[in-house]
Amino acid sequence: MSKVYIETYGCQMNFADSEIVASLLQKEGYTIATELAEADYVLINTCAIRDNAEQRIRKRLRELRAQQQHNPRLRIGILGCMAERLQSQLMVEEENVSFVVGPDAYRRLPELLAQVRRQGVKAAETELSTTETYADIEPVRLNSNGISAYISIMRGCQNYCAYCVVPYTRGRERSRDPETIVAEARSLWQQGYKEVTLLGQNVNSYRWKEGETVVGFPELMRRVAEVSPRLRVRFATSHPKDLSDQLLEVMAKYDNICKCIHLPVQSGSDRMLKLMNRHYDSAWYLDRIAAIRRYMPDCSITTDVIAGFCSETEEEHQMTLEMFRKVRYDYAYMFKFSMRPNTYAEKHLVDDIPDEEKTRRLEEIIALQGQIALENNQREIGKTYEVLVEGESHRSKAQLFGRNSQNKVIVFDRHDVQPGQYVNVKVVRCTAATLIGELVGEQSAQ
Ligand code: SAH
Ligand code: SF4
Ligand code: F3S
Repeated sequence: MSKVYIETYGCQMNFADSEIVASLLQKEGYTIATELAEADYVLINTCAIRDNAEQRIRKRLRELRAQQQHNPRLRIGILGCMAERLQSQLMVEEENVSFVVGPDAYRRLPELLAQVRRQGVKAAETELSTTETYADIEPVRLNSNGISAYISIMRGCQNYCAYCVVPYTRGRERSRDPETIVAEARSLWQQGYKEVTLLGQNVNSYRWKEGETVVGFPELMRRVAEVSPRLRVRFATSHPKDLSDQLLEVMAKYDNICKCIHLPVQSGSDRMLKLMNRHYDSAWYLDRIAAIRRYMPDCSITTDVIAGFCSETEEEHQMTLEMFRKVRYDYAYMFKFSMRPNTYAEKHLVDDIPDEEKTRRLEEIIALQGQIALENNQREIGKTYEVLVEGESHRSKAQLFGRNSQNKVIVFDRHDVQPGQYVNVKVVRCTAATLIGELVGEQSAQ
């Protein structure tokens, strides 16, 4: 029986895809290896979002050469966004790669693996699809804690933000049949999972036609939330241009829909937002923030931002800092702009901000955000939250960690609590990244 080892890089969607790949291969008699040393195949599920993401994969491929010297049977396959972007060229550039498979072609994997082994040939399968959602595949949960799981609800993106490769690596946007999504959530709940995260590049544009009726994202959320009041529901990512009041209403209504919204801002400058093709301006964005706070005063808000996009001036950078001061995000993923091949930016704009300047701007954003996150956390001291316990704290076995509805990590002394339980924890101290708390009240064992 052949063994396959899967390594995953990039976003949550890639991690969800690896679980689909594992399922497709298991069905055809492959086993999923837990150690690279015992594998006949290694599949690397890759990310192409920034140049450094791709460099990391290339470095990993060099390391794998040594592994292949110990184990000449080992075949290397590249999956995911870098596979789609570079296609068969990747096998020319990286000699130890035997096959390349794009995100919509995973059903072909068992056949390709056999072909590579039998005929010793190289193979590439990178056709994108307008319909593939892998709706019928029940993912094999990899590295799971048995408590939280991802559910992919849509694939692709056609927003064509000027800087972004995703529309080219993931293809057209398509939504998955809601019945299969609810069935997957129900099955996870029955297996003992306590939290699901619904995934898509832009979940607000989820749309499924059932006869005459259309199921949009708010309705889908409602259906998943109804699976059980004790199943937490999260989602990522929302695009600010279509974050609707209807969704906020549904979120506010259900206690088990987590009060946390990831709303990537990218820039605080209207000229930059227009050049980025984001379809909103700073006033629209701030209006959406105000709407979130109106419906859910306790909702946490997180973001993504890009420093040093093409032609960004110092003043425009200051506008981004100003946006951070206004919104006071609980968490932010902060990036330096990286020019990506084939994007609108590469074809029509100039990457004219020197790297040191991008770094300086990024560091300013990081410093400001660190301070805001600390201040936000200090305001949590004295509050009590329901925490879903995920596991042992990294620092000490005597402590556990979990998250509250707002997705903030809380660490506390273990007592006799088990991972997977809901407990009430009062926050007593904090850092910029973590809340430290104490168990309070009676703990229900569930
Ligand atoms: N679909 C999501 C984001 C997916 S990519 C959304 O639109 O919100 C995750 C983040 O990577 C983006 O939000 C953006 O901040 C960043 N990113 C994308 N392309 C980039 C590039 N070329 N350089 C730097 N950061 C980039
Ligand atoms: Fe990329 Fe924009 Fe699509 Fe997000 S919405 S994946 S940033 S093109
Ligand atoms: Fe990377 Fe592809 Fe996700 S480029 S961020 S793995 S969609």
